Amino acid sequence: MNHGPLIFLGILFTFASAWCGLVLVPHQQLADLAPNVSEETGQSFPQARPGDAAQGARLYTSLGCVACHTQQVRPEDGGGDIARGWGSRRSVARDYLYDMPLQLGNQRLAPDLANYGERLGTNPPPYLHLYNPRAVTAGSFCSANPFLFTRRATNNTLSPDALRLRKGFEIEVGSELVPTREADQLVAYLRSLRFAVGLPEAPLKTAEETK
Ligand code: HEC
Repeated sequence: MNHGPLIFLGILFTFASAWCGLVLVPHQQLADLAPNVSEETGQSFPQARPGDAAQGARLYTSLGCVACHTQQVRPEDGGGDIARGWGSRRSVARDYLYDMPLQLGNQRLAPDLANYGERLGTNPPPYLHLYNPRAVTAGSFCSANPFLFTRRATNNTLSPDALRLRKGFEIEVGSELVPTREADQLVAYLRSLRFAVGLPEAPLKTAEETK
């Protein structure tokens, strides 16, 4: 008996269903995604990152921060991210409209950074942490980036933007470390990581609900 047509149809069906699952359905779900405009405030979310933060995003990619840090907050029934304070709602596809490349990450060896800017709030920016995480958190294995800082001579008083290095991490007397333009850009990017805006598909959790 000739099974040729049957085998052909079987193969066709396999490829057609894979195409539907991997191309057609995602296309229908995601192709029309656009920023959400809030009815109350008229504000659009997400927004494209301005210059410095966009440059910082490139640095974040090139320095391989994604090897340890994710940028995706799981829903409440999928893990403890919201309870840990990493976001006040789950991450959804719309949050990443302007991210290219995506920095979702697939190994979480360190705190999620999707909402880091919001967490940072009015605290001082993490320059010291970027220079040497061990100078902030003992034993941290976050990568150090001393090349993002310039060493320059100083006469006794540190300039306002110089790193305040604690005991054990000092550099030689008469010199100071100041952030380079790249360090500022990376900080601008880290500050821009925030998604505390409710969306129709993912409303914000109230403080009560996140307990
Ligand atoms: C080898 C893994 C690893 C890599 C690579 C890494 N980190 Fe980290 N990072 C950590 C760990 C672990 C922590 C938690 C301990 C700490 O606070 O230092 C952390 C903490 C942080 C924090 C503080 C987060 C918070 O919630 O307080 C920031 C900001 C951060 N990292 C930024 C970066 C940036 C930017 C890069 C890329 C230049 C990077 N990290 C690369 C492991 C890593």
